[in-house]
Amino acid sequence: MKPPDPLFAPLLDRLLAAGAAAPLGFHMPGHAAGRAWPPELAARLAALDCTETPLTDDLNAPGAALEAACRLASQAWGAGRSWLLAGGSTLGIRTAVLAAVGRHGTLAVERGAHQAALQTVSLLNLPFRLLPQPAVAADWQRPLPAAVDPEQLDTLLRQDPGIRAVLLTSPDYYGRIAPVRPLADVCHRHGLPLLVDAAHGAHFAYIPELKEYCALCQGADLVVQSAHKTLPALTGAALLHVSREALETGRVRASAVEAALGLWQGSSPSLLIAATADWARAWMTVNAGERAAELIRAWAALGERLAGERARAPVVGPIRLSRPAPDRDPLRFLIGCTQVGDTARLAAALGGQGIAIEFHDHRRLVLLPSFAHGAGDIGRLGDALAELTAGLADGEDEPRLVAGDRAWGGLLGREADFACHPSQLFDVPCRRLPLGDSEGAVAARAVRPYPPGIPLLWPGEQVAAEVLRDLAVLADLGVAGDGLELVKTGQAAGLCRV
Ligand SMILES: Cc1ncc(COP(=O)(O)O)c(C=O)c1O
Repeated sequence: MKPPDPLFAPLLDRLLAAGAAAPLGFHMPGHAAGRAWPPELAARLAALDCTETPLTDDLNAPGAALEAACRLASQAWGAGRSWLLAGGSTLGIRTAVLAAVGRHGTLAVERGAHQAALQTVSLLNLPFRLLPQPAVAADWQRPLPAAVDPEQLDTLLRQDPGIRAVLLTSPDYYGRIAPVRPLADVCHRHGLPLLVDAAHGAHFAYIPELKEYCALCQGADLVVQSAHKTLPALTGAALLHVSREALETGRVRASAVEAALGLWQGSSPSLLIAATADWARAWMTVNAGERAAELIRAWAALGERLAGERARAPVVGPIRLSRPAPDRDPLRFLIGCTQVGDTARLAAALGGQGIAIEFHDHRRLVLLPSFAHGAGDIGRLGDALAELTAGLADGEDEPRLVAGDRAWGGLLGREADFACHPSQLFDVPCRRLPLGDSEGAVAARAVRPYPPGIPLLWPGEQVAAEVLRDLAVLADLGVAGDGLELVKTGQAAGLCRV
């Protein structure tokens, strides 16, 4: 028998194999294997991954180069102050919440917030109010419910004087843009800062048709963006901005942001990762407008091409492509399917042709084009789609798929009913029960399909009958698991109510 290779490193092996397969990736990170990088960056990644030395700079103690990079980021995104981060939007959200709310205030946060919000309130044991998002007519291009209603927000802020900040998301994982301005106005009338998780919107500032929807242009005070999701930056690269107005009015203090960042940031944040956010800013300034126009044109042409091929075929094709709409990012490409199970099958089949996507849910595939992609890449995707979907009949499962969207909307549109704070549950013994046996118990762990990483049920929430009904619909479609990790109601009663 051959002796085991002492240098066997299974994780590295896996990465090397994935790299060798060189798929066309419509997913994060947005640098598309370094296609939009200067050659010396791609070639010297190892040499450039170095600790803080007198020759470099330090994210924990900014020197001249980092300060200049942050100033340029503020100019590019129209902020009063900006910070480059190497810990993703997750670090940005933690920092923004701590800076704006402190340790004793209350955070109002929309129900459809990314899990980073849940992590933050759990880690800080922070009081919070979950804002339900009103259900809208199920629409395959806008699957998540609409943004929080300004009047509802106003009522909540009147009722709870402990609230110190509001956290919303725009755009979301599917590219839906929230009307931030009226919500910012409500917050400001109450003298509160609005925090916006714009993890998916770092590119908005560079695209003429999206610029006005930038959270900062819409009045947000603290804005978090993942550079690695849509810009040519390394995984983990992110930005945190404070608006000029927030600094002038004192709604946000830069010193509080710095103090909060100092508490969350590790002692060795990667300067290389942050430097790629700096590069991405510069590259986007020169290239983004033209690249965006090419991608948008190519996607529209692909829609026409597939529609044409279908028109010639005897059967109607089973997929549809997202179209521009006023409240959607046209650079978030969605492919809708009409049969249950087709999204998983199509994602796997594309993978077999060397084309990887970001994720799929029960009804749609989500693709993140990189600004380094061009019409040729979209054409290659089109060839694969034409081949893989030719001859498939349009599905008859539309009602089931719509029911899935409604269930999703129902879960995010609910008023919260917490038995205890999520932070009280992380080490409480719990057991997994089938959905059918869970009514009346308390969720011990979040139910959080990933992606998009939005908790449908937060730890500490009572499991009501309608929650189980909606989760069962999603479980049936393969979106959420078919069981819940629960603590018994009696045990939870011993914990404080929120
Ligand atoms: C809406 C939203 N916010 C925040 C995050 C966290 O971003 P990061 O991975 O940069 O920490 C994500 C990640 O997917 C997200 O989708």
